[in-house]
Amino acid sequence: MATEKPANCDERFGNIPADDFCGKPLLNLKDFLQISQIVYKHCGIRLNSGKEQLVRSRLTKRLRDLGVGSFDEYLKYVKADKTAQELDAMIDCLTTNKTSFFREEHHFNFLRSQILPRLKRRGSGLRIWSAGCSSGEEPYSIAMLLSEEFPGFDTMDLKILATDISSRVLAKARCGEYERESARDVPSLFLAKYFSLIQTNFSAIYRINDTPRKIVRFARLNLMDVWPMKGPFDVIFCRNVMIYFDTSAQRNLVQKFYELLNPGGYLLVGHSESLLESSGEFKYVQPATYIK
Ligand SMILES: C[S@@+](CC[C@H](N)C(=O)[O-])C[C@H]1O[C@@H](n2cnc3c(N)ncnc32)[C@H](O)[C@@H]1O
Repeated sequence: MATEKPANCDERFGNIPADDFCGKPLLNLKDFLQISQIVYKHCGIRLNSGKEQLVRSRLTKRLRDLGVGSFDEYLKYVKADKTAQELDAMIDCLTTNKTSFFREEHHFNFLRSQILPRLKRRGSGLRIWSAGCSSGEEPYSIAMLLSEEFPGFDTMDLKILATDISSRVLAKARCGEYERESARDVPSLFLAKYFSLIQTNFSAIYRINDTPRKIVRFARLNLMDVWPMKGPFDVIFCRNVMIYFDTSAQRNLVQKFYELLNPGGYLLVGHSESLLESSGEFKYVQPATYIK
């Protein structure tokens, strides 16, 4: 962080280091505050005090790739870029994308036992949105469940929209290839049925097959921007995303989700994201589960 002074610095070395001796540029308070303001304004993510090391380590590689020696120089570069490509790249580096297949399993149990039977009885098409889908594990988990639950899966009007702000994770999601470590969260029956195992010299890669893949549409969307989708959706997963936003941004988002859902539609949020202050018109069903 700004005030951090490497032990190996010495005044007699003069004004030499923009880099410390590990080759990492230092991040001073002014630059950190500027970065957090830009990020907050652009995508609602709050990088509060305490996140300095995270920002510094996540952006260091980017600075290196660009051949930029200091955060001050980097910020000038970001601001001068009229295409906003570097702003996107910066946001890409700073998002937290932790996810896994069938994460927070209670939602998938609820989807299977409560939501899908109702929607089956209704009999029309089905629209689900995974908002903040990261590298695709969430929407592919939903797609596998739909395939299990809807026997005429191939011929039915089932669609999942999966969006994220990060182009980097969306590229991984579209590619649909996962390492053994990520695939361990997939039940073995599903692994055999919905993945192909690609053995390379060094590792095993699990590649999602066409059945789940063909009903998922990935798109880049900043939740803070105007949404092009008209809806309505039957279920919206927005899990472990709003946790990075402040209450007013959460409230706005939740209201917009409400407007896009069918009556009786569900909003599922991460288990650590209580919507106590932001649930608006939604009715609470069970932890992290709301109904319109
Ligand atoms: C921690 S991951 C959660 C992934 C998945 N929903 C889950 O629960 O496993 C949060 C995701 O939200 C995305 N995100 C953060 N801010 C966003 C924004 N303003 N618009 C769209 N996506 C955003 C991040 O890029 C990241 O991939």
